[in-house]
Amino acid sequence: MDKGIIILDFGGQYAHLIANRIRRLHVHAEIRTPTVATEALDGAAGLILSGGPSSVYADDRPAYNPALLQTNLPMLGLCYGHQLLSQQLGGEVTPGETMEFGAAQLQVRQATGVLWGLQEQERIWMSHRDSVVTLPDGFELLGATEDCPIAAMGHDGKKIYGLQFHPEVSHTESGMQILDNFVDLCGCARTWTMENYIEESMAQIAAQTAGRKVFLLVSGGVDSSVSFLLLNRALGEERVQGLHIDNGFMRKNETALVDRLMRDSGFHNLHVVDASADFLTAVEGVADPEEKRRLIGEEFIAVRDRALAQLELDPEEWLLGQGTLYTDTIESGGTENAALIKTHHNRVGVIEQLLAEGKVVEPLDQLYKDEARKLGEKLGLPHHLVWRHPFPGPGLAVRVLCSDGRAEMEGMEAVGQQVAEVVGRYGLRGEVLPLRSVGVQGDSRTYAHPVVVSGETEWEVLEELSTVLTNEVGQVNRVVYLLGPEERPLQGLKQGYLTRERLDVLRVADALVMEALERHGLMRVVTQMPTVLVPLSSDGVQESVVLRPISTDDFMTASFSRLSRDFIEDVVGKVLGVEGIEAVFYDVTHKPPGTVEWE
Ligand code: XMP
Repeated sequence: MDKGIIILDFGGQYAHLIANRIRRLHVHAEIRTPTVATEALDGAAGLILSGGPSSVYADDRPAYNPALLQTNLPMLGLCYGHQLLSQQLGGEVTPGETMEFGAAQLQVRQATGVLWGLQEQERIWMSHRDSVVTLPDGFELLGATEDCPIAAMGHDGKKIYGLQFHPEVSHTESGMQILDNFVDLCGCARTWTMENYIEESMAQIAAQTAGRKVFLLVSGGVDSSVSFLLLNRALGEERVQGLHIDNGFMRKNETALVDRLMRDSGFHNLHVVDASADFLTAVEGVADPEEKRRLIGEEFIAVRDRALAQLELDPEEWLLGQGTLYTDTIESGGTENAALIKTHHNRVGVIEQLLAEGKVVEPLDQLYKDEARKLGEKLGLPHHLVWRHPFPGPGLAVRVLCSDGRAEMEGMEAVGQQVAEVVGRYGLRGEVLPLRSVGVQGDSRTYAHPVVVSGETEWEVLEELSTVLTNEVGQVNRVVYLLGPEERPLQGLKQGYLTRERLDVLRVADALVMEALERHGLMRVVTQMPTVLVPLSSDGVQESVVLRPISTDDFMTASFSRLSRDFIEDVVGKVLGVEGIEAVFYDVTHKPPGTVEWE
């Protein structure tokens, strides 16, 4: 293995992002805690000191090994790392009262060292409270911002650099150039590849399992499929058992696809359970979204436990495999020094216990989604599976809206009038729908009505209208636009629960939408595109669907996608041709105030 970069993790949320970026430059990157012994750095060509939530003055700042700063290796300190370098090498850091957060302009004073090749002005991303105010001996000022006089410093002779901002986030426009400069200064060879990762990871899996076996739930998504293939490669099929549960809420042909895929890859150790009847019975006659989710979650555990009992796996001999990505763990306080933001389902109590006992194998836990996808391609997963959109655990169950058939419009006359008046200002027609969907406003969930808008118009108008309606009219959290038919039939709410028939209608529509995305080359333009079945009907039989294409980086916020007229005409024609569907709407709500899913 050629020499690479070691990242000392001081608890910044971006520590793993730094590793991801360095690997994109084809250089090996590893993350270590800052207490690591210098002898363990064998193989390092340079060190990056990450950011972190502490102050260098805090009593509880992360412990570190001071000998690391005396190794003569090139070093790059970022944010907290920048402050620590400065403080330890003879500079001065002052505690700040307020946070500087967000985009800033860097005035580049000297385009040398890690700033080589940068313009005089660069857009960067800041997130800090304390600041470096005096340079350490022998260091030069390389860059400043309006609020931060020493935003970049360097000592070319020693190849030590400090940046107050974050080159690893994409908002810092020349961030990759800066990291590229650093790996050049370290003399790293650009030889790291995904094949290296596969080899390293297989060796690690073999070491961790130490002769034991691994059980893994395979949903059909990218992460679990990639993990299953990698475990099989590392351990051989006798030591891996996969379980796929068909809960009846899968996409069209999903279960058959996963099953066939694994067989085609030469593995016969995926056990498939058809539990759709159990799940459908569990949610029979239930309309409330939260109740549906809860019942599905409980049923999942019951089915899994029954299947495990049937397979008779000895818990002493078997470890639990999970397709956890690095991003799934970070918000759960996944690294030693990181703060807890929220808990992921792969980090709940029982699993934490197994983790503590070393009984969980997570071959992707250092990777970001883009890397898991690359790994999938290397392991031979077909392109369309690798690039599939994320799919929620409860599947299509949260995309089939249910109702007892009673319109939820009590006391809504005034709202209806207000909506008609606002929409009328734009020369369009608008009506409040007699059902509710989930949304998010501020930090809390809402459960309110969508408005349907119809008439000839443009995306800009719809975007503005959607913002105005959701801001100004109470009880409205979403806006949809009628795509077809041209005249909306007089629709009311019909009764409908989670039945196989309704799920089948949605499965067909969803598959047509996904095929259209592929056909128009839009699969990667859109991050996710739920198709939602809503019980709006003119004849008590046929229903409606809502298309919900969004684009987002992190799913916390999202914008609705403005897809082309060509695509829309194509998809509407196909979906209206599905038996059981009479109208198609397009969700034009950003998140917030709408969530990605409708419930
Ligand atoms: P929302 O609807 O909250 O969705 O804006 C954000 C992302 O989370 C996915 N999602 C889920 N995933 N179980 C999951 O595993 C769930 O219950 C669930 N609900 C939403 C959603 O598909 C989107 O990617």
